[in-house]
Amino acid sequence: MVVLPEPEAAKIALDVLRRGGNAVDAAVAAGFALAVTYPQAGNIGGGGFMLVRRADGSSFVVDYRETAPSGARRDMFLDPNRNALESLSTSSWLACGVPGTVAGLALAHERAGSVPLRRLIAPAADLAAGGFPVHARLSAALEEERDRLMPNSATAAVFFPGGKPPAPGSILVQDDLARTLRRIARDGPSAFYAGPIADGLVAAMRKHGGLITSEDLARYRAVIREPLRLAYRGCTILAPPPPSAGGILLAEMLNMIEPHDLRSLGAGSSAYLHLLAEVMKRAYADRATFLGDPEFVRIPLRGLLSPDYARRLMRGFDPEKATPSPQAGPGDPAPYDSEETTHFTIADASGNVVVNTYTLNDTFGSGAIADGLGFLLNNQMDDFSARPGTPNLYGLVGGEANAIAPGKRMLSSMTPAIVLRNGRPFLALGTRGGARITTIVLQVILNVIDFGMEIQEAVNSPRCHHQWIPDALSCESGALPADVAGNLRRRGHEIDITGPRGDVQAIQMDAAAGRLRGASDARGYGVALGD
Ligand code: DON
Repeated sequence: MVVLPEPEAAKIALDVLRRGGNAVDAAVAAGFALAVTYPQAGNIGGGGFMLVRRADGSSFVVDYRETAPSGARRDMFLDPNRNALESLSTSSWLACGVPGTVAGLALAHERAGSVPLRRLIAPAADLAAGGFPVHARLSAALEEERDRLMPNSATAAVFFPGGKPPAPGSILVQDDLARTLRRIARDGPSAFYAGPIADGLVAAMRKHGGLITSEDLARYRAVIREPLRLAYRGCTILAPPPPSAGGILLAEMLNMIEPHDLRSLGAGSSAYLHLLAEVMKRAYADRATFLGDPEFVRIPLRGLLSPDYARRLMRGFDPEKATPSPQAGPGDPAPYDSEETTHFTIADASGNVVVNTYTLNDTFGSGAIADGLGFLLNNQMDDFSARPGTPNLYGLVGGEANAIAPGKRMLSSMTPAIVLRNGRPFLALGTRGGARITTIVLQVILNVIDFGMEIQEAVNSPRCHHQWIPDALSCESGALPADVAGNLRRRGHEIDITGPRGDVQAIQMDAAAGRLRGASDARGYGVALGD
């Protein structure tokens, strides 16, 4: 079964499974195909995290997060008065981190793939060359981002032929991208990091004031990491470690929630949402304080992951009253020890499971394409803290731990996760959603484990989000009954209804019945396909 955010790429991934490829093969094919059909976030110019659990019980994370170029400097996004310049970290060529996707997909393939890599890239290259029918949501997304995308002539040429985005149902051909993909298919992943593609990218960087050099590209490595293993109500949850904040935050939030009986509070009740808000703000305070690239900062991992620490964080919890953010955290976890992203979930018949979240950061990334190469570049540098306390695109604040440094990976929220019950995969999921990714994944897990919802309901149900700063509980518009909102306000929560959205792609495994249930979020236009 494959659950993807876009139907054309989903067909390609399913086809790989049908021809005998495993879940990793299908995931690699999906990763390249979405770079063609879902340019909002599918990419070869960005980065992400893939979590693989193999049928033999082993698991690994491929960290293919972008790195800061060697010329990056801590204050590079500040003006002379030390004010953060958001346009520089989101819409200029300086916004671009060294892309990790090609290295990451290739590393996953090298570890666990079974079909030659070129055969997994070929369908994407063919779709780019032959074109694919443009979904109404892609056409609308392009129109919405017109002002940001049009100034880049290469981007305008691909996505605004004749000055307009392609109409829904019309065929979008991407010749340059097809050429780039074919070259990678023919010469292998190193063709992205040295040779004509790299040269083209570096030339564009020079021309437009970007920082990425040939050495930066040659030096880029995707990294294999041990997944974090979190315990919750008898289940084990696998999730990525830093430089994603996802696994740690999920652990902190689940640890704080576990002593509470959620069923007796009730899904959607003000008592439940109050508990979530209090838990989320405490975890996000720690995110802003302690988390960054583990190669650059010492993260108090053991402290943050311990249930005892979670109990201490919740000492001030009052079921009737919101703790104001300044008093909610960060904690003291000593001792130290050593819109737009996209997610897909794939499970094969042998029991291999892959969850992958990858991104250009913002919708269509920085909006820039290097002449002749055909792929969009990320603006992931915005995920660093430009200055302590200054919010990024997602309103997230951070400090020293996530300051910019050459070669460093920026902190992420991406949380591809696999839940094991009795040692077997039981739920696999992930989503896009910026800062909200981790709280969205949390709520779908709680909907299944605590509230017993079936997977599609668990995915579609309304959700909320709190990230410490701003001190507001953010809910989906129309999803909060007036009495619940009233009860939350009475407890002292400020409520904003600009709402968490996300686009969850999930599979639930029923081991006893040997059945898989796929659920693609009603908020997006993805599909679950299976045999
Ligand atoms: O890595 C991160 O946390 C962000 N760059 C993710 C961005 C995102 O999810 C935008 N999507 N809606």
